[in-house]
Amino acid sequence: MRWGDMAQRMRQSLGLSAISGMAIGHAENGGARVFHLCDCVLRAGVIGCRRLHSTLCVPHDRLSLMSDHALDPAALDQLFRTARTYNAFSGEIDDATLHQLYDLLKFGPTAANGSPARFLFIRSKEAKARLAPLLDDGNREKTLAAPVTVVVAHDLDFHEKLPVLFPHTDAKSWFEGPRENRQVPAFRNGSLQGAYLILAARALGLDTGPMSGFNNAGVDAEFFAGTQWKSNFLVNLGKGDPASIFPRSPRLPFDEACRIV
Ligand SMILES: Cc1cc2nc3c(=O)[nH]c(=O)nc-3n(C[C@H](O)[C@H](O)[C@H](O)COP(=O)(O)O)c2cc1C
Repeated sequence: MRWGDMAQRMRQSLGLSAISGMAIGHAENGGARVFHLCDCVLRAGVIGCRRLHSTLCVPHDRLSLMSDHALDPAALDQLFRTARTYNAFSGEIDDATLHQLYDLLKFGPTAANGSPARFLFIRSKEAKARLAPLLDDGNREKTLAAPVTVVVAHDLDFHEKLPVLFPHTDAKSWFEGPRENRQVPAFRNGSLQGAYLILAARALGLDTGPMSGFNNAGVDAEFFAGTQWKSNFLVNLGKGDPASIFPRSPRLPFDEACRIV
């Protein structure tokens, strides 16, 4: 039987909508055989191989709750597994790309759709010069050289826009009162939106370099005077230079970082 025919038969028997990958493993008897077929690795159907090499292989019958629309492995690599934090960037980023970036990240969820994050894209030489003295020494050179540096900030008066952003009910009233009471929701949801920005940038093929080493109060005074915008962290954007990354640091294993109860 040809591989293609076999793949189609297995696709049907596993109930997969399409197949984009196939891998060969070694069976107990030493022979080679197909050990999984998938339309994406995370929905792999594992077929009788006891020497699975791929850490991504998950038995098909364990995945009944996974979405039919999981991204393919290359996309997961681009967003997470091979994405890195860069320390040197090149290229140019035009306005249209920054609009694209915002038009993706804005859909990430926030409490009551409050969307408290505000983003300042620092691109001009003049604006970079205003930022320069407010950066930690170790962050200055790479930030001045990056095509764009984003100040991820949040608006402590974000609730003013809730009548538009969450029109089903009077959500604005939930956040009225002393401004310091809005600090936690603004920071929490603004930080989430900063993370959405990093992932949206990666999805668009941009590399990122997030940084918290700078003078927040100084940035607020320099760029946000007369507003209630407060800086959270910075993100350099551009085409990352692979020579500028550090060796990948380990991540906590599941058992140290997670509990299932
Ligand atoms: C909120 C935040 C603040 C960070 N601050 C700095 C910083 O001030 N300077 C710096 O060089 N790297 C900074 N980093 C980079 C982290 O050290 C880096 O993202 C982390 O080690 C993971 O690296 P990797 O993505 O290459 O695996 C920061 C990252 C984040 C998310």
